[in-house]
Amino acid sequence: MTTTALIGRREALEGPPKLTSAQLREVQQQTLDAPRLRYSLLARALFKTMDLGYGRNGTIVKFIMLEYIARVPYQAWERVGYLALAKHRRRSALAKRVFGRIVQTRAEQDNEQWHLLVLQDLAQRRGLKQSFVKHRLAPWLIACVYYHLSWLLFLVAPEWSLRLNADFEDHAEHEYMRYVAEHPELETQADPGSYAAEYGRYDSIADLLRQIGHDERIHKLDSLVNMRHPRFHSAG
Ligand SMILES: [Fe+2]
Ligand SMILES: [Fe+2]
Repeated sequence: MTTTALIGRREALEGPPKLTSAQLREVQQQTLDAPRLRYSLLARALFKTMDLGYGRNGTIVKFIMLEYIARVPYQAWERVGYLALAKHRRRSALAKRVFGRIVQTRAEQDNEQWHLLVLQDLAQRRGLKQSFVKHRLAPWLIACVYYHLSWLLFLVAPEWSLRLNADFEDHAEHEYMRYVAEHPELETQADPGSYAAEYGRYDSIADLLRQIGHDERIHKLDSLVNMRHPRFHSAG
């Protein structure tokens, strides 16, 4: 199956598509077979920092940290979007296009928030320990730096900011899919369904994490598509 980027307003509001168990296995294999993007120096520095602080291998606690900062670029872009909207408010067709992009950034923030809530729930159920310094303070500091970096990059050269996010999302997609492949026991662990009404119910925790991995792929594709018209006022 093929996956297309979300660029329409209605599709953006609905978020990435929810896949069946068979589709989730297929997209996982596609990710595992696909090469990673060629990450920028900045992206590699970010991943290295996370590896040093939280270990090279994926864990639920490390994914929580990843999701904590994943929302940040979308918040930064939303802020820039409102500046663009104010500037172009007298040109209704243009303002409408800019607002479409703002809606997309908000939908992606919400999607990342569900990921964070789902993972926090899994960590709680497993009794995984999270310390204040390593799992609250440090992610907050990294998120602060990442937010300002995304915002500044977007003002200077929006395509760089979008590309940094595409790298981040590609990395997340591969990390989730690899984690599931390396933990076959997840296939027989039931999805607790704590956020079933909002995020869907899956056959197993393996499928739940594959769905999150696929969402990351959609986020990546959105950023890559938006790189063709990086500035809000050139939004398609
Ligand atoms: Fe995410
Ligand atoms: Fe994402």
